[in-house]
Amino acid sequence: MCGIVAYIGPREAYPVILKGLKRLEYRGYDSAGIALLNGGLKVYKKKGRVSELEDSLLGKDLHANIGIGHTRWATHGEPSDTNAHPQTSASGKLAIIHNGIIENYSQLKQELTKKGYKFNSETDTEVLLNFIEDIQKNNECSLEEAVRIGLKRVVGAYVIVLVDQEHPDTLIAARKGSPLVIGVGKGEHFLASDASPIIEYTKEVVYVNDYELAIIKADELILKNLGNDKLTPYITKLDMELAAIEKGGYDHFMLKEIFEQPNTIYDCLRGRLDVEAGTITMKGIEEYAEQIMNASRIVMVACGTSWHAGLVAEYIFEELCRINVEVEYASEFRYRNPVINKGDVIIAISQSGETADTLVAIENAKSKDAIILGVVNVVGSSIARVSHGGAYTHAGPEIGVASTKAFTAQLAVLTMIALKIARKKDTISEERYRHLLEELHAIPEKVFKLLESIEHIKEIAEKYKNARDFLYLGRGYNFPVALEGALKLKEISYIHAEGYPAAEMKHGPIALVDENLPVVFVATKDAHHHKVVSNIQEIKARKGKVLAVVTEGDETTIGLCDDVFVVPEADEIVAPMLNVIPLQLLAYYIGIAKNYDVDKPRNLAKSVTVE
Ligand code: AGP
Repeated sequence: MCGIVAYIGPREAYPVILKGLKRLEYRGYDSAGIALLNGGLKVYKKKGRVSELEDSLLGKDLHANIGIGHTRWATHGEPSDTNAHPQTSASGKLAIIHNGIIENYSQLKQELTKKGYKFNSETDTEVLLNFIEDIQKNNECSLEEAVRIGLKRVVGAYVIVLVDQEHPDTLIAARKGSPLVIGVGKGEHFLASDASPIIEYTKEVVYVNDYELAIIKADELILKNLGNDKLTPYITKLDMELAAIEKGGYDHFMLKEIFEQPNTIYDCLRGRLDVEAGTITMKGIEEYAEQIMNASRIVMVACGTSWHAGLVAEYIFEELCRINVEVEYASEFRYRNPVINKGDVIIAISQSGETADTLVAIENAKSKDAIILGVVNVVGSSIARVSHGGAYTHAGPEIGVASTKAFTAQLAVLTMIALKIARKKDTISEERYRHLLEELHAIPEKVFKLLESIEHIKEIAEKYKNARDFLYLGRGYNFPVALEGALKLKEISYIHAEGYPAAEMKHGPIALVDENLPVVFVATKDAHHHKVVSNIQEIKARKGKVLAVVTEGDETTIGLCDDVFVVPEADEIVAPMLNVIPLQLLAYYIGIAKNYDVDKPRNLAKSVTVE
């Protein structure tokens, strides 16, 4: 949720940390702060964007070779200078940054209050820091030891990094549930929530695991568990280029990522899909093909846009593999005490690989001997590391908070898995299999063609930008696409929008229809098309404004609509990868027309690492 950055080494810490916070700002942008150690502890923090903190520090002496920085997504205490991180301890000697939630903080706060502690902020983080300082004082032990003792009493999720005025050559960090990456340089170390602040300095990283603690000096990295046993840091080489996390000349990351989709879908298929040979190669799936084929059911677990990808996959797997699929909201699945049997196959879908609800849901299922397969975008992320197998979506870093290219890459991976299993199970004919391989292979080119003519979408966005509500409708494979279109509009334009199965409309939502309600149909040619056309006429009969995603050349449907988004013809199984793109662009251009920050929509964050 929040973004944390820290540095120790010969460089000026401030510019390294500031740049890192800007790279992580998609994780939370309610406030920002930095603490530097240079002949004493200096803490600077400000409500709002990192740039506002930067402006407030102009002209200050910010020289230091060790520091910590934080960009916040508020959980405990509203966005303010006081609740911003770093938080400092009662003695003023310690400072901490924290990503996560300390669930038993009020109990700890009561204990400390009884001892006379006073608190400046409303944060759980300040409570944790004073709890650690109190242990250090009472046990006359090192900060490292106090952290280890303190964390054994903590309930919740955390990445914390601490600096100690009395030990200006050491950073202490620890992790449980939230992500922490350590960049290993020559005589320097970089700490961050993900690799994007580190990539320009080093490609050598260590992914810290749950219940691990790191003691970091400029030229030394020690990893330990909470039991004080030393662990060997496992160094991984990052496979990412700096350009991937730059805007590359686009106004926004969201627009860049929408336009990257011909390449990202291609990268997702490359080395896996071989139309000539009629094969799909996915090592991380092949190992579990038997279990998948013989599974009585497959459970897809995810949140948000990834959940929508799971819903499309449900239709595909049931049609092609004849396997029962359940699509679960991770936040409900983790607490519902679901029936999980040994050998059940759970597919966890996640762009970030760090979404707390999805992570804990699969950890629970894994503890009941289910097989966990991850469909994940961020390499080395927690969900990828917890999963038994799976496949990366290779969409590259997705910075825009609204997920776009990751969604189409998830669909490409899930479609390949389904085709692979269906062929193995012989539940589809060789002819249909070959046809779908070709259809899948043709998608990147069709997306490229689709993105060549989008000017009209700007005009349509301008036309409907002041609508109070939107309704998105689709049938079959296009129903989840309608849900995704509605979610994109909500996230980016703050307009209330609902996605619905088109036939369900008559059971209530049609009461909303009048001349002021734009109704977006995903009405491309498929098995249900004639039914959708009837639904369009029902809306027209009530003066609703009809916008529709339609198949090229479908003049009949085009004639019925007020505005259309034309997409190339494609088999209904792969069409969702095309049909969603005009809806991504509609949301983007309505957000732009309303002058909203489409990369950092209010109240949102890219990776939801708290429940
Ligand atoms: C989508 O645009 C949102 N950013 C959000 O719904 C997201 O899909 C959800 O938080 C799941 O994230 P994940 O794919 O990283 O697990």
